[in-house]
Amino acid sequence: MRVVSLGMLFASAVALTSFAQAADNAAGKAKAEICAGCHGDNGISQTENIPSLAGQLDQFIQWQLVFFRAGARKNEQMQPIVEQLNNDDIRNLGAYFASLPPFKGGKDDNPDLSEKGKQAAAGRRCASCHGDGFAGTKAVARIAGQREEYLVKALHDYKSGQRSGGAQAAMADVAYPLSDEEITALAHYLAHL
Ligand code: HEC
Ligand code: HEC
Repeated sequence: MRVVSLGMLFASAVALTSFAQAADNAAGKAKAEICAGCHGDNGISQTENIPSLAGQLDQFIQWQLVFFRAGARKNEQMQPIVEQLNNDDIRNLGAYFASLPPFKGGKDDNPDLSEKGKQAAAGRRCASCHGDGFAGTKAVARIAGQREEYLVKALHDYKSGQRSGGAQAAMADVAYPLSDEEITALAHYLAHL
């Protein structure tokens, strides 16, 4: 098994962000052609369990690509992709996807479930990190309008420890006490914002 030192991760992420102004949107767009088959045209996913990337936070995207590349976040489909990416690609892809108009939820077919999710989000103080409107900030993901079944999967992955994430694994602590009912309601509410 490959051992990933957090120090190494941090060093590479600092290198990524300190040159953020040098990101090249056009190069990111060209590189993003290999992403469209899964993440959709213009970063709007049409595929189950694959997140939309349009309007996602630049820093969040860069961190996740670094996590996948280092093996700290594991996914069979993303693994062969990140092996082809250097630090410039990661910067450019982050800037490109962040510049696209963000994904938005469709018509809400279950407002009662959304109301439960809204209450759970308030009780668990999700907006204290994800921001008003859940639009995200820096390395904290945009979650408003994300695909519903992907939100369910992500919360289960944190809860089970399959995914630990950045920011001192903040999400693992948040997700651990969530019940399945809460996760279902939270995902439905957030997906329809
Ligand atoms: C073969 C399909 C496939 C391709 C091609 C692909 N991805 Fe992914 N990607 C996935 C899947 C599946 C996930 C969800 C992984 C999980 O559930 O943890 C994902 C997750 C991600 C995430 C994490 C997003 C989040 O909200 O947590 C980022 C960032 C990402 N991909 C970027 C890219 C970029 C950039 C490219 C092109 C260079 C790309 N992907 C190409 C399948 C793919
Ligand atoms: C203490 C700060 C904090 C709180 C509170 C918080 N989050 Fe997060 N959240 C984060 C961070 C940081 C990330 C990025 C983690 C990573 O790198 O995987 C994240 C990521 C996520 C993701 C993954 C998004 C993606 O595209 O992969 C989901 C879903 C999520 N949070 C939902 C929630 C919900 C629902 C709540 C309330 C129950 C919540 N969060 C509360 C900090 C927080």
